[in-house]
Amino acid sequence: MIPNSPATPAPALYPLIEDTRHLTTLLDVIRWAASRMDEHQVFLGHGTTQYWDEAVWLVLDSLRLPLNLDSAHWQAKLTPGELTAVLGLVRRRCLEHIPTAYLLNRAWFMGEPYYVDERVLIPRSPFAALIAERFSPWFTAEKPPESLLDIGTGSGCLALALAAHFPAAWVVASDISFDALSVAARNVQDFQQDERVHLMQSDLLDDLVDDSGQPLIFDLIISNPPYVDPDEAGDLPREYHFEPALGLYAEQRGMALVERMLDTAGSHLSPQGRLFVEVGNGKRLIDESFPHHKLTWLTEADGLVSLDAAIFTIDRATLGHWRG
Ligand SMILES: C[S@@+](CC[C@H](N)C(=O)[O-])C[C@H]1O[C@@H](n2cnc3c(N)ncnc32)[C@H](O)[C@@H]1O
Repeated sequence: MIPNSPATPAPALYPLIEDTRHLTTLLDVIRWAASRMDEHQVFLGHGTTQYWDEAVWLVLDSLRLPLNLDSAHWQAKLTPGELTAVLGLVRRRCLEHIPTAYLLNRAWFMGEPYYVDERVLIPRSPFAALIAERFSPWFTAEKPPESLLDIGTGSGCLALALAAHFPAAWVVASDISFDALSVAARNVQDFQQDERVHLMQSDLLDDLVDDSGQPLIFDLIISNPPYVDPDEAGDLPREYHFEPALGLYAEQRGMALVERMLDTAGSHLSPQGRLFVEVGNGKRLIDESFPHHKLTWLTEADGLVSLDAAIFTIDRATLGHWRG
């Protein structure tokens, strides 16, 4: 008997090379890609939640076809060159578990395409719902925020979405990572927002000062900071290991930067200003560590799709005693 042999042998995987000879149309390739992704258990959650959608995204976007392509065109044949290129991407997705957004250097956020690579997190923040609602009811159309800050901007997706939804506001997008700011700069240029979205390198709020050293003041500050406990890194699907560690992990079980932000944001908010921070599943930790805290958790009524992706808000007056 072979020591440690599994009781049931693992099912053979369909070969990712020999099996592709009969694929000719878009539909063939999408169907095959979806089945192989399921078979190889690639992780979803960086843009889609279904293997079929992930396959549609990978195949159509790599061919520079619209993602809502009429299915009447799905019988179109790929050229041999296209077939080789697309199948190569599907193989890398399945065998190396590289997220689709990095394979394509493109992620979609709130219906807009962003350049991404492994220097930035793949956009997927639940802030999308709040931005779409223009942070109602905290801000209104009559009194919108005029100065906005996105801390830890990564690709710049949140800052650019803010700029699009508050067209009269000026926007600062900050990050500690020069690499991330290089990607954000490319997106700011692609969206032709150089005049309105200002990139600044800063360790949280520490370096956000004007020419005379005074803190820059904002009506609305948002942040999707790193909040994953480094001890959980080993449990994350392989796809996460392609994302920058600086964008994912923070000390104190993920909450180090969130706490620092809460302690310092007050001096950067206008009297009517508000801070919104995404903390993922850090909600439980905050509720346990600070049972009397003054943070307001957003709910589904505020447009959040999933409460696993927690966001809190707090106004300037309350920030001074946020621990309660
Ligand atoms: C979770 S990612 C968010 C990226 C983007 N805002 C999004 O939602 O897709 C966190 C970002 O915070 C940046 N970051 C990490 N530590 C920071 C710090 N001390 N100060 C400012 N930014 C920081 C990382 O470089 C990364 O781009």
